[in-house]
Amino acid sequence: MSLLITGGAGYIGSHTLKYFTEKGKEVVVVDNLETGHKEFVRDAIFYNLDIRNKIELDKLFKKHDIEGVIHFAANSIVGESMIDPYKYYHNNVYGMLCLLDVMKHNNVKKIVFSSTAAVYGEPREIPISEDNPTLPTNPYGETKLAMERMMHWFDVAYGIKYVSLRYFNAAGAIEDSSIGELHIPETHLIPLILQVPLGQKDRVYVFGDDYPTKDGTCIRDYVHVMDLASAHYLAYNYLLEGNESQVFNLGNEIGYTVFEVINTAKKVTGCKIPVEVIGRRSGDPAALIASSKKIKDTLNWELKYSSLEKIIKDAWEFQKNYINKWKERN
Ligand code: UFG
Repeated sequence: MSLLITGGAGYIGSHTLKYFTEKGKEVVVVDNLETGHKEFVRDAIFYNLDIRNKIELDKLFKKHDIEGVIHFAANSIVGESMIDPYKYYHNNVYGMLCLLDVMKHNNVKKIVFSSTAAVYGEPREIPISEDNPTLPTNPYGETKLAMERMMHWFDVAYGIKYVSLRYFNAAGAIEDSSIGELHIPETHLIPLILQVPLGQKDRVYVFGDDYPTKDGTCIRDYVHVMDLASAHYLAYNYLLEGNESQVFNLGNEIGYTVFEVINTAKKVTGCKIPVEVIGRRSGDPAALIASSKKIKDTLNWELKYSSLEKIIKDAWEFQKNYINKWKERN
């Protein structure tokens, strides 16, 4: 029997795929390559398929005797979701409906879901635990929450068990630098910072230095992508053991300001990184820091790469490696 990973050509999906294949698991990947990279899938069984194509998805479930799903395939840019909510409801919410329907028809009853801290919106308290109210402030978070609720009711009615993993700020790359964070266009802080030492940009724009934090810039909780991958492995095995549905936060439980991230990147790269402070980006909460106590207590999740320096070092090695490969090809 095989595990299906949707969105396995994307950033977190490809790292999770690598983690599972190294553990000897047979995996089938589905990705429509809208934002994913085919080369990130390497030699896993791959289908260039949109999960909203239920007929083809159903065939694939039957052909590969799918036992469970890890679901990453979704759009995930907050700003884009504000200007094109239709795209987010269609791909994320309707996509989930199609996937769950095909699972139901094939009697597949286990799903690990890629959720986000964006479901909380402005947090009531820091650190944020899973019982913080869920009040998303953008369509991206809203659609991820709707997907969580859909899984809940599919559990109640059809017994499909789920683990929803609410990531804080995913960052870093696998240590061999073969895959990493590569969004086009890039909107995330760490890869944008690294574009300066790579010579692709001349400065980093900092979105506001008037927040109520120690240096005025926003605080975020950066978590290494391979630590996220190991959490998916624990969550999937938890479901295979026949356990109940759960929602878990995944964060480092440490917050860093934007200036602290930039200073760490200067140290790691040995380069100057000029900064220009501009206005706040709308919708950015001042501070987001996770409590990951629940998953640590329930699944014994252990972070292996919690230092910010290590996270940025791995991101940096990937970016250099990728640029070199790209230069060789062109
Ligand atoms: N930032 C800058 N300059 C930039 C880019 C980002 O100052 O050029 C700042 C942002 O204002 C924010 C921090 O750096 O304070 C991190 O920004 P990212 O865009 O890297 O990440 P976000 O915290 O906005 O978003 C992340 C995930 C989303 C998820 C969200 C949950 O990328 O998918 O956390 O709150 F929805």
